[in-house]
Amino acid sequence: MSSITLPEPELDGTVSVDRAIAWRASRRSFGAAPVSREDASRVLWAAQGVTHTRDGIEMRAAPSAGATYPLTLFLDVGPDGAKALPPGVFRYDPPSHSLERIRDTSVRSALTSGAGGQAVVRDAPAVLVVTADFERTRREYPDHGTRYVYMEAGHVAENVQLVCEAHDLCTCPVGAFSDESVKRTLDLPAELDPVYLLPFGHRR
Ligand SMILES: Cc1cc2nc3c(=O)[nH]c(=O)nc-3n(C[C@H](O)[C@H](O)[C@H](O)COP(=O)(O)O)c2cc1C
Repeated sequence: MSSITLPEPELDGTVSVDRAIAWRASRRSFGAAPVSREDASRVLWAAQGVTHTRDGIEMRAAPSAGATYPLTLFLDVGPDGAKALPPGVFRYDPPSHSLERIRDTSVRSALTSGAGGQAVVRDAPAVLVVTADFERTRREYPDHGTRYVYMEAGHVAENVQLVCEAHDLCTCPVGAFSDESVKRTLDLPAELDPVYLLPFGHRR
C-alpha cells in the first residue's frame, strides 16, 4: 500500500504552552473543516515525532522510560475526515514522518462499537490509536515496565491535547474501549495492544 510523507510540522505557532494548558479541555464535538495533511502532521509529530538524536537514538516528542519507545500509532481517517488524506487506516513511521496506508477503508464503525458506541469516536474526522508493545519496555524494566508504558501513553495524549489547543484543533482522550475489539478491528500484530484512542478534528 502507499505511503504519504507528511509536511514538516510548523514549530513557530503563536499560542504559548501556558495558554494551551489554560485552554486545554476534552472536547467531544467537531466542526465541518476536514483534517489537512498539516493538521495530521502536527498531531502525529507532537505524539511521537522524532525531535533530535542522542547517542545514535532518534529521540521522540514524548518521554519514554529508558528510551525504549514501545508505542506505535495508527490513524483511522473517516470518509469525509481529511483533505488530502484518503480514507483508511495508516501506521505512523516516526523516522520518516510518514503514514503508511495499511487499509483503504476506514474501520470507524467497528472502532466506535469497540468504544461502547461513543459519539466522539464516531464523529471525529480522524482517530489516533495509540498501541504498545509492552514486552519491549518490560524487558528493560521487569517490575515497572507495564506502568511505564501507560505513563508514556499519557504523555502522548497530553502532547496531542496541547498541540490541538494551539492550532484550532480539538481532541478527547478515550480510555473506555474493549482492548480485544480494537485489536481485532485494526488487525494488530500479536505484540501490539491498544492503550488509548485520541479522536481529533477541528473545533466547532
Ligand atoms: C485515562 C483517561 C480516560 C478517559 N476516557 C474517556 C472516555 O472514554 N470517554 C470520554 O468521553 N472521555 C474520557 N476521558 C476524558 C475525561 O472525561 C476528562 O478528562 C475529564 O472529564 C476532565 O475534563 P477535561 O479533560 O476537559 O479537563 C478520559 C480521560 C482520561 C485521563
